[in-house]
Amino acid sequence: MNEPNLSVQIGSLKLKNPILLASGTVGYGDEISEFIDLNKIGAIVTKSISLKPRAGNPPQRVTETPSGMLNAIGLANIGLERFIEEKIPMLEKLGATVICNIAASSFEEYATCVRELNSFKVIKAFEINVSCPNVKDGGLLFGNDIKAVRKITAMLRPLTNKTLIVKLSPNTTTIADFAQAVKDEGGDAVSAINTLVGTAFDIYTRKPKIKNVTGGLSGPAIKPIALAKVLEISRSVDIPIIGLGGISKWEDAVEFMIAGASAVQIGTANFINPKVSLEILDGIKRFCKTEGIENISQLTATYDL
Ligand SMILES: Cc1cc2nc3c(=O)[nH]c(=O)nc-3n(C[C@H](O)[C@H](O)[C@H](O)COP(=O)(O)O)c2cc1C
Repeated sequence: MNEPNLSVQIGSLKLKNPILLASGTVGYGDEISEFIDLNKIGAIVTKSISLKPRAGNPPQRVTETPSGMLNAIGLANIGLERFIEEKIPMLEKLGATVICNIAASSFEEYATCVRELNSFKVIKAFEINVSCPNVKDGGLLFGNDIKAVRKITAMLRPLTNKTLIVKLSPNTTTIADFAQAVKDEGGDAVSAINTLVGTAFDIYTRKPKIKNVTGGLSGPAIKPIALAKVLEISRSVDIPIIGLGGISKWEDAVEFMIAGASAVQIGTANFINPKVSLEILDGIKRFCKTEGIENISQLTATYDL
């Protein structure tokens, strides 16, 4: 069999393959580029950028949990200005396909970030983070409010011709309603899912293991939940889904695509093995060959319920 065609289309964005690196798990790409050639993966999603730099939450900000981790980083990032000055030239040099993730604590802040970043060619799409569980302003306040998600999508749509992706929270009752709102307002795709709210205690001090008390749970522990959310969206809304949550091996990526994802993102697994995304890519390539799949996009939403 010929080499399978691994390219996928998300809105106007054509990706060479469906394997993306998830926001917040590979910084702005500089560190991970010591381990993998960013040019080989579909795209890198940047750490969430906000208008002003954010220090994030005080430590302890992460703790390991069974088959996963809790983080309450609180969107620590260098801010828009330094991102433009330092990271955009670096990403251009690396030849990466960049999806810029944006976080904000007001509607206007989202709009300003998109306006300021829209002219940079290296940024091929925006992923709007309305779903961070670890900040008191914005984040889940927006992600849990369907009217806010609607308003953000409607407000950003006219500001850019680039692919507009909204990253949804799993900490809601009906994620499909949020995906429908994104579609109604002209969004091109949704990413599902962000982390789930969780906590952990030290039984001797009786204090929470992370200073923020709660954090976002990620890693293999959340995979079945993430898959169910992707399936829920896929069954009721006609919008491309970028699936993520607990993917650590190629079989997981295939599972997400069967459940309805057009592409997938690798997050926490990068901390364990920074080369895992390329290994996953090799795995799905082999799978396509052995299964006689000529175009990877043929795999999307092929569940047999
Ligand atoms: C340490 C850490 C930091 C994260 N920071 C962000 C962020 O800045 N913006 C965002 O949209 N998601 C962020 N996420 C969420 C991930 O992108 C992803 O949605 C989540 O971890 C589930 O995928 P995974 O189980 O493969 O890690 C972060 C996750 C972790 C573990």
